[in-house]
Amino acid sequence: KRDEPAPAAPSGQFLTEFEVDDNKGFLTSDVGGPIEDQNSLRAGARGSTLLEDFIFRQKIQHFDHERVPERAVHARGAGAFGTFKSYGDWSNITAASFLSAPGKETPVFVRFSTVTGSRGSADTARDVHGFATRFYTDEGNFDIVGNNIPVFFIQDAIQFPDLIHAVKPSPDNEIPQAATAHDSAWDFFSQQASTMHTLFWAMAGSGIPRSYRHMDGFGVHAFRFVRDDGSTKLIKWHWKTQQGKASLVWEEAQVLAGKNADAHRQDLFDAIESGNGPSWELAVQVVDEDKALAFGFDLLDPTKLIPEELAPLQKLGVMTLTANPTNYFAETEQIMFQPGHIVRGIDFTEDPLLQGRIFSYLDTQLNRHGGPNFEQLPINRPVNTPIHNNNRDGAGQNFIHKNKFPYTPNSLNNGFPAQANQTTGRGFFTAPGRATTGNLVRALSPTFDDHWTQPRLFYNSLTPVEQQFLINAMRFEASHLTSDQVKQKVLAQLNRVSNDVAKRVAVALGLPAPVPDPTFYHDNVTQGISIFNSTLPTV
Ligand code: HEM
Repeated sequence: KRDEPAPAAPSGQFLTEFEVDDNKGFLTSDVGGPIEDQNSLRAGARGSTLLEDFIFRQKIQHFDHERVPERAVHARGAGAFGTFKSYGDWSNITAASFLSAPGKETPVFVRFSTVTGSRGSADTARDVHGFATRFYTDEGNFDIVGNNIPVFFIQDAIQFPDLIHAVKPSPDNEIPQAATAHDSAWDFFSQQASTMHTLFWAMAGSGIPRSYRHMDGFGVHAFRFVRDDGSTKLIKWHWKTQQGKASLVWEEAQVLAGKNADAHRQDLFDAIESGNGPSWELAVQVVDEDKALAFGFDLLDPTKLIPEELAPLQKLGVMTLTANPTNYFAETEQIMFQPGHIVRGIDFTEDPLLQGRIFSYLDTQLNRHGGPNFEQLPINRPVNTPIHNNNRDGAGQNFIHKNKFPYTPNSLNNGFPAQANQTTGRGFFTAPGRATTGNLVRALSPTFDDHWTQPRLFYNSLTPVEQQFLINAMRFEASHLTSDQVKQKVLAQLNRVSNDVAKRVAVALGLPAPVPDPTFYHDNVTQGISIFNSTLPTV
């Protein structure tokens, strides 16, 4: 019965009621009649096939509709079930139930992915990698839809189609390595300075991780923690790999792409099958609300990270992956992560990239599923939390609602389903202290303007070997450029981050070394320009 909580089940097994066991029985049609399905019905042994052959029609029709649209981005991925265990009672910072007691366990499903390639692309292509986690908490599903890089290319979601159109395969021949595809990606990067920080991380080891198990994960945006008393803090999510962070070298990545394009998928699957499921610690950086502008950048700007010296990581718990999917399509392909899936105790911020994402995932998933009932798919249902609301009908409706009065207020069903806060005293809440005001503007805040300090900080934090790795990657990618104007723009933009990088990439392009651009450099190479308030500390 859907309106009664199912008994607790070990993670990875909570979908067993939906599993189909074909090890016994005989073939049936979709509506249950016994059938043989190897020969179509013909008029005589050598005659035409008959339209009345419903066995043929049903089998072919189902096959014809097997494919659904792949994800618009992050199409290539692999997933697994596991368990998250809280290290403590974190009610001092959040009311989130899954963080409310030491040892409290919550089932999870994680999907790792690349961003740009299609479903059949090679795992080891250089790319940002997705790290999306669903917690099936006892107060509903909560998703951290993150990446393996702590920052993002753009600051406003309205630019996302431009970014993706620039980095996807060439529109004429759909070849990812086509010269036009390189030109378009770097044309965009070099003119959209906000991309520099993420680009630098992607050109370093994070772009070609050794395996999914060897990646860290990041929620990227600032979110809010909300306590029961309504007080809030700004936080950033981190997943720290317990396998050690490691990357491939480019030559390995290229060889693997040819020898085993499924290398990462296979590595994850094999590790779990052999009982060596990987684990990650979940940590947060916690910042007071009034410190959003205190570090020399804006915490609402997703192209910035908070250096750990300024806000140390606080470890909240550990996640271990323990079970592979039973069916890739039903589970890994049909899971619909959303940054909008939050639970009581967690709230959004005004980050304009996050705000746009909250719309985009819901919208695209309507397209992937073909209707509004995708949250009813087994992998998307909450575990142990019954669903009651007045949402009705739509394609693929799975539930048989008995309530004949699906509206509020109703007295004919005794007012049920009732508002949660009136019934339990623990309804969902948005941070009560949040306020928003201001004149309408189509422009980002000037506190988002500094695009160069943090990539410079990142580059300067690398060892010489790591710097060479990054330079080699930039040289490899930039040497495929065919447009002279794009080459010039790339060097000009890199030169704003670091003259060292620009000079070394110029060699590979056969262009003269750019002269340092002092407008963009701070005296101290590890310090940046605090562009919006020079009295605030810089990083
Ligand atoms: C999918 C991360 C920005 C649109 C994904 C997935 C991840 C992810 C991990 C794969 C989810 C899965 O495995 O099912 C991020 C991060 C971002 C970001 C960390 C920035 C911080 C954006 C923006 C947009 C966007 C700005 C659009 C405005 C999408 C779409 C999908 C997707 C359409 C496919 C979702 C689906 O079909 O289920 N993203 N993304 N993303 N993302 Fe993002």
